[in-house]
Amino acid sequence: MPQPILIANWKMNLSLKELENLANDFKKELGGIQDKDIIICPSTVSLITMAGLIGDSYLQLGAQNVFWQDSGAYTGETSPMILKEIGCRYVIVGHSERRQYLNETDEMVNKKVQACLANNLMPILCIGETRETRQEGQTDNVLHRQLISGLDSVNLIDQEQLIIAYEPTWAIGSGLIADPEEVERVFALIRQTLVNLYPLTIVNNNVRIIYGGSVDASNIAGFSEIELLAGFLVGGASLEVGKFKEIVKFL
Ligand code: PGA
Repeated sequence: MPQPILIANWKMNLSLKELENLANDFKKELGGIQDKDIIICPSTVSLITMAGLIGDSYLQLGAQNVFWQDSGAYTGETSPMILKEIGCRYVIVGHSERRQYLNETDEMVNKKVQACLANNLMPILCIGETRETRQEGQTDNVLHRQLISGLDSVNLIDQEQLIIAYEPTWAIGSGLIADPEEVERVFALIRQTLVNLYPLTIVNNNVRIIYGGSVDASNIAGFSEIELLAGFLVGGASLEVGKFKEIVKFL
């Protein structure tokens, strides 16, 4: 089992100067931690600056999005090859905000996952049901579809690493936290789907399943019983190093 992973998704928050200050705070407070993977995912336009800033620490860099081609006539998109050149190691793929506001489909998400792996970047594949889906009793079907489609033709081999982030959309930024028992049930479902796709050793060694959605120091203890939990994807509570540190300490 790879070590725990904590991902700070700073989304489109903060100015460039504020991002630099936050990255410096992270470096000071968390930059020496080696037994957990701590990833910052700042705005795309700040990635080069951030890479220079955290380069001499153990913090790692992630992007919030990527395109599925390395280069070409794709105005406004970001190349996985260039992300790699910058020094990114991770990419958030299929975040629900992109599925909702940018109409990202499962097919697009799948191409992005493949492009990441082809460029030696670790995809953080986000899946999660909406409130309506849950009310209609369709949660498991939707998660299964997102997972199967997202991983279509993805042959995890050798050292290729994958992170699956379960983020119920109704829990993101809402202050509502999913019931840990339900998260545990969903994690088992995710793992079973993965075991049907890949050899057990690959699932055990190359895949981490994490939770995201309004995680902070006040609600994190509820997750301690979830055996399969390998980390968290954190939005709001990652915008202050003190709050994020509490989450890091927990794992
Ligand atoms: P949140 O965001 O922690 O603010 O709910 C999580 C996410 O969107 O990844």
